Amino acid sequence: MISLEEKLNEFERRNRAAELGGGIEKIEKLHKAGRITARERINLLLDPNTFVEMDKLVTHRCHDFGMSKNKIPGDGIITGYGKVDGRLTFVFAQDFTVFGGTMSRANAEKVVKIMDMAMNMGAPLIGLNDSGGARIQEGVESLAGYADIFYRNVQASGVIPQISAILGPCAGGAVYSPAMTDFIFMVKESSYMFVTGPEVIKTVTHEEVTMDELGGAMTHNSRSGVAHFAAENDEQLIMMIRELLSFLPSNNMSDPPNRPCTDDIMRQDESLQDIVPADPNKPYDIKDIITTVVDDHNFFEVMPHFAGNIIIGFARLGGKPVGIVANQPAYLAGVLDISSSVKGARFVRFCDAFNIPLITFEDVPGFLPGTNQEYGGIIKHGAKLLYAFCEATVPKITVITRKAYGGAYCVMSSKHIGGDVNYAYPTAEIAVMGPEGAVNIIHKGKLGETERAEAVDNYRKTFANPYKAAELGYVDEIILPRQTRMKLIQALDLTQNKSKQNPPKKHGNIPL
Ligand code: HXC
Repeated sequence: MISLEEKLNEFERRNRAAELGGGIEKIEKLHKAGRITARERINLLLDPNTFVEMDKLVTHRCHDFGMSKNKIPGDGIITGYGKVDGRLTFVFAQDFTVFGGTMSRANAEKVVKIMDMAMNMGAPLIGLNDSGGARIQEGVESLAGYADIFYRNVQASGVIPQISAILGPCAGGAVYSPAMTDFIFMVKESSYMFVTGPEVIKTVTHEEVTMDELGGAMTHNSRSGVAHFAAENDEQLIMMIRELLSFLPSNNMSDPPNRPCTDDIMRQDESLQDIVPADPNKPYDIKDIITTVVDDHNFFEVMPHFAGNIIIGFARLGGKPVGIVANQPAYLAGVLDISSSVKGARFVRFCDAFNIPLITFEDVPGFLPGTNQEYGGIIKHGAKLLYAFCEATVPKITVITRKAYGGAYCVMSSKHIGGDVNYAYPTAEIAVMGPEGAVNIIHKGKLGETERAEAVDNYRKTFANPYKAAELGYVDEIILPRQTRMKLIQALDLTQNKSKQNPPKKHGNIPL
């Protein structure tokens, strides 16, 4: 008979084997590279002592390529749940020390199990990815595992927040699943995302490219727009995820979590009075307005390295989380182009899906003209932003700080597409186009230099102000910049029980 002690020892032995993953040597290699293990990552992410691991002893079921002799309990993925700021959160972490963190059928089943639980319990899912993708030895079984996950990523989209961290070299399915989640975080100099790595590229297209150039954190944060955040190291990345979660509801049926607000909700800021320059052609930094206005000046910017002409991110006003979308006059004059439209549209849809009110700061000269943009499909991509704002039923509050010209006026959460409260500063200019362009078209070739200057001046006086729009009720109120915080909090209060639904349909057809 096996003694009780032996039984307990056997349990201990299996537990230890699972916790060691690929072994001391591989763990040391990770640490030497300035990275931390999958278990250490989970422990940092979750509140202390809240992690509950599931399926710790699962092993793969592959017999080919000598795999039956090579089994490690847990099979290269750690799954379970715990708390972040006291709120239930599901998590999986791929362990690169075990078969390169690759996806076997068995460990896909572990992920599927917690995805289903996260959906049933209405809690966010965080994926800490560090994986070479589908496990080659398992062939189509590992592909099936990934496909099961992709399917659930889509079912969960818009129901629970899904957040992906890329914490090592990730390829194949290890990038496609994150691509279908809401936010992607990467680490500079140690995380990579690509469909196929540099070696395969060299063979197929004879292109030579480094891992970093191809799929490093800054490539995806500043160039491709695939990733939303770049951290200096694993630890910082995990703290950023915790901060992001603090703005989000647990699911689409809940409201985002309010925080007690210690910042005066009636605070007026004289510094706001002259941030927008008198000269309409002079740039200024819209972030100066945002950070002055929000609670404790805390603005959590999303995609700060991509399409700088639009700024997106989360903040709180009177303790309530809001999503902020703002044209940035300090970068390309805040013009709307393909990248900024797509960046803005996806953010607006995220906020709308998760009941996060939208605050729009508008200073936009229009859509960027040019063959590059037209051939690239600015019509289709600009339409995404328009579509997203039209479709959003969350509270929508707009402040026109300066230019609201042309189609961009309509797009940026105007009254006509469902803006609930639309403010304008006295510096606002709301018209079909700027004075110079307008005069060039209306009086094409008919005016001398002086007459032309007079016509521009005349147009500016008549149209380049907020009063025409105010007379028509297209802006609800002209406010002084110093009042912005108070006015936004008032508008949020007004709209807090807003209930609006789009017509029932299977889904719309956003111009993809
Ligand atoms: C099985 C794999 C593997 C894989 C890596 N390993 N990728 N094992 N299947 N896909 C193993 C290695 O054999 C090695 O095992 C360990 O993981 C670490 O890998 P290294 O190559 O030594 O590490 P590194 O030099 O850091 O390179 C990491 C890497 C590279 C960039 C991820 O391994 C790589 O390019 N792998 C192939 C990636 C790929 O093409 N995946 C696509 C799969 S298809 P040992 O035992 O030596 O430690 C897919 C389709 C999904 O995912 C569907 C999409 C829609």
